[in-house]
Amino acid sequence: MRWLIVGHGKITSNFIDAARGIGHQVVAVAGRNSERASNFAIKNEIEKSGEDLLLLSEGVDAAYIATPHSKHCNAAITLLENGVPVLCEKPLAVNQREVERMINAAEESKIFLMEAMWTRHLPIYEKVADHIKKGRIGEPKLVEASLGFNSPYDPKSRLWDPKLAGGSLLDVGIYPLTLADLIYETSPEKILSLAELSPDGVDAHLSLLIQYPNSSLAKLGSAINLSLPNGGLIVGESGSIEIPYFWCAQKAFFTQVSNKEEISEPHQINGFEYQIQEVNRCLSEGLTQSPKVSWECSRSMTQLMDQIRHQIGVRYPADSEDQDGI
Ligand SMILES: NC(=O)c1ccc[n+]([C@@H]2O[C@H](COP(=O)([O-])OP(=O)(O)OC[C@H]3O[C@@H](n4cnc5c(N)ncnc54)[C@H](OP(=O)(O)O)[C@@H]3O)[C@@H](O)[C@H]2O)c1
Repeated sequence: MRWLIVGHGKITSNFIDAARGIGHQVVAVAGRNSERASNFAIKNEIEKSGEDLLLLSEGVDAAYIATPHSKHCNAAITLLENGVPVLCEKPLAVNQREVERMINAAEESKIFLMEAMWTRHLPIYEKVADHIKKGRIGEPKLVEASLGFNSPYDPKSRLWDPKLAGGSLLDVGIYPLTLADLIYETSPEKILSLAELSPDGVDAHLSLLIQYPNSSLAKLGSAINLSLPNGGLIVGESGSIEIPYFWCAQKAFFTQVSNKEEISEPHQINGFEYQIQEVNRCLSEGLTQSPKVSWECSRSMTQLMDQIRHQIGVRYPADSEDQDGI
């Protein structure tokens, strides 16, 4: 496939390495500043660069959006309305209203759209799901997971700026929520959220206690001001599964009584290749969404995050009706 990348920040190098590693091409890069985009293009041997999304999307098979959260929606809609399939970084958008606009654009133009929640494509999770389905840990009753790193407070950075929909939930909290969703495969019944807010009102550190049907629980955490344990643990009635670095996992440890088994699924490149292969598969089969990260999956994750933000009092400028496309 020939890809356009939108944004040229930190994460794009993972995408470029994975795409090229499996034989795809990155042929264009769009940025908000031509000179910076051009420098990036030269450094990464990308043919075309600039600010004009539509011009740059000519002749590509799909676009990968990796801009700050509040910039996903408009870029995706512009591309979808012009027939360009979109793989958009997580979270798909800032809130449910934006996500619905993106899904409508994909639906109306019959063009593929998928949130780049790469964790859902990692091969290790097929093994985890299989292990659970075979009843090897009994019914899962507890998911514990956290993802947090200590980033210095900087009101202008993407991580901390409310205008760019910063904060830990949208940046990293979405991963523990995804793990709980992968295990329980259903919507929560009750959520208790507590957070430490930054001076600008984004969540620096968040703790979640969530109840799922059958009184199964999830204890989840995220932070941009603290290094958290960064592991995942699933406890069932007769065993457990430990998943170190669960968002990019290559290993899982299955425990039943005193028997511990290690399962390993090393990434082919860096883990991003699986979601890129999934886009390729879906496009070649004429699908507009992937069953692995369906529109409904992104929609329900966003509804959940909107609910959590409401509980902890985090409101972004993008949440106001008149702030579309800020
Ligand atoms: N899947 C993963 O493991 C993973 C990991 C990290 C991040 N992400 C996601 O990837 C996306 C980008 O994250 P990142 O860490 O790559 O971000 P980053 O390093 O801050 O880069 C952001 C990019 O967006 C551009 N941009 C466009 N409008 C902007 C604006 N108004 N303010 C600031 N930057 C703007 C920046 O261009 P300039 O050069 O002009 O500033 C830069 O190219 C986010 O959705 C994030 O959640 C995913």
